[in-house]
Amino acid sequence: MTRDEPAERIRTDGGTAEGADEVALDPWGSSTIADYRKLFEEFGIEEFDDVLDEVPNPHYLMRRGVIFGHRDYRPVLEAMRDGDDFAVLSGFMPTGDPHIGHKLVFDEIIWHQQQGGDAYGLIADMEAHSARGISWDEINEHSRDYLLSLIALGFDTDEGELYRQSDNDRLQRLAFELGGKANYSEFQAIYGFDGETNISHMQSVVTQMADILYPQLDDPMPTVIPVGPDQDPHVRFARDLSERMRFFKVTEAFASFELDDTERPVVAAAYDARDEYAEDADMPRCGEAAEWLADANLDAEGILVADSVRDSAVTKLENAGMEPLRPRIRFFARQATDEAFEALIEEVEGEKRRYDQHIDAFDMDAGDAEELAREVEAHHGGYGFIAPSSTYHRFMTGLTGGKMSSSIPASHISLLDDPEDGYNKVKSATTGGRDTADEQRELGGEADKCPVYELYAYLLTGDDDEFAKKVYDECVGGERLCGGCKEEAATLMREFLEDHQEKREEAEELLDSLDIDLESERRGVAAEH
Ligand code: TRP
Ligand code: SF4
Repeated sequence: MTRDEPAERIRTDGGTAEGADEVALDPWGSSTIADYRKLFEEFGIEEFDDVLDEVPNPHYLMRRGVIFGHRDYRPVLEAMRDGDDFAVLSGFMPTGDPHIGHKLVFDEIIWHQQQGGDAYGLIADMEAHSARGISWDEINEHSRDYLLSLIALGFDTDEGELYRQSDNDRLQRLAFELGGKANYSEFQAIYGFDGETNISHMQSVVTQMADILYPQLDDPMPTVIPVGPDQDPHVRFARDLSERMRFFKVTEAFASFELDDTERPVVAAAYDARDEYAEDADMPRCGEAAEWLADANLDAEGILVADSVRDSAVTKLENAGMEPLRPRIRFFARQATDEAFEALIEEVEGEKRRYDQHIDAFDMDAGDAEELAREVEAHHGGYGFIAPSSTYHRFMTGLTGGKMSSSIPASHISLLDDPEDGYNKVKSATTGGRDTADEQRELGGEADKCPVYELYAYLLTGDDDEFAKKVYDECVGGERLCGGCKEEAATLMREFLEDHQEKREEAEELLDSLDIDLESERRGVAAEH
């Protein structure tokens, strides 16, 4: 299938977008996501389809709707297209064997690396120990397994970086700094932490915040964090913290007073219409703009705005009276040192006006201003972080129906499973088939509800869309019966596991040559959680 044809047929989201009324995103819970659409409405996750066209040769997981959502992914895509720096990072808790669900994330990291990104894979050992109570011995063993599979699937260790949270000093220093901008009330509100939550668990949260910003330690760059939607609270918090660390905030203003993000477009419209009302169109006055705005037909200008927003904009303009209405870029000094503030003032080109806590620049555009602020910050001891982006993928359905879970062996296929066991698990999987072969021929199978079809779409057909579409069409068309379909899938699974495990063996030596401490001598009693 080419990208221009409707992707409908091989989508995997057909049957699952219905169900429970409540969505909760809990990084340490066991919630399944019953209704992915709710994530868009309730949490502001954006639909991946909206950016799919902007992705240069999209991964099959993107084409098939497995990667269904994102937050602010565009800056990453822009960098990808323009050949600018960008990064990808994700992390894995070594609580058990890596399985085919983790493979989705491995693939996403590797794909971004192949598109030119700086790639990072990390082992969240501090989180496993503090939030899940896993012992260091077990953590050592599983850490190795995750990294071997990541390398076996194509992670380039010459170009990318792999690390363990507990073994990375720069990361811990960053975590400490970020912790200075977070407090317990937020942990309560975001994660439901309470008086019983162990302190190391909290430390693992600031460590994850540091993970997410780690790729930008040397240079700010757009960064994507591919994860499941349960990790979205972490992503939002990291975006928040990245912002709080900034020296300057850059906004657009039109006069001495401040505007919020809802009022700004309204006042901008009033400025654009200045010819209609200003006595001197070269110098419209705020008071004149207020009069115009009070009964302008904003709908006609394509601006949909609540009355209360318009009213507050009018009031602000009125109060400014004779002050000229004039667009400008405003740099706020948030936590900049005096030295950084002075340097910024120096660097701003063209007409500028300096105030106690901010500078107005009249001859700069917003993009240049952002860049300048970041540069000055980076030169004066700040980080200059760009808010991190994320993509979200669907969770695979368990082979036995329900959730794919590390703790139910028959529900998932471990990347370490004996290939014969993998074969057998697929053979005994539940399907979306009908009760009898006759019925199946007549009605067709329900591929959208079939864990075996998911295996084809998420893994077994690889990049071959034709193949995935063929399985789907034959299934729903009644030409394909479950027995043969599972036999084919099981055989492919066996081949995949054989091949993957061979590559894992080849990766052993490479892994050992890297500077990662996989035999942590840590002592300690796993935290209660
Ligand atoms: N919390 C993640 C999980 O439960 C693991 C993780 C740690 C992570 N640090 C990260 C994921 C940074 C993405 C980015 O699996
Ligand atoms: Fe699933 Fe294959 Fe049966 Fe269709 S034919 S329901 S895809 S096992």
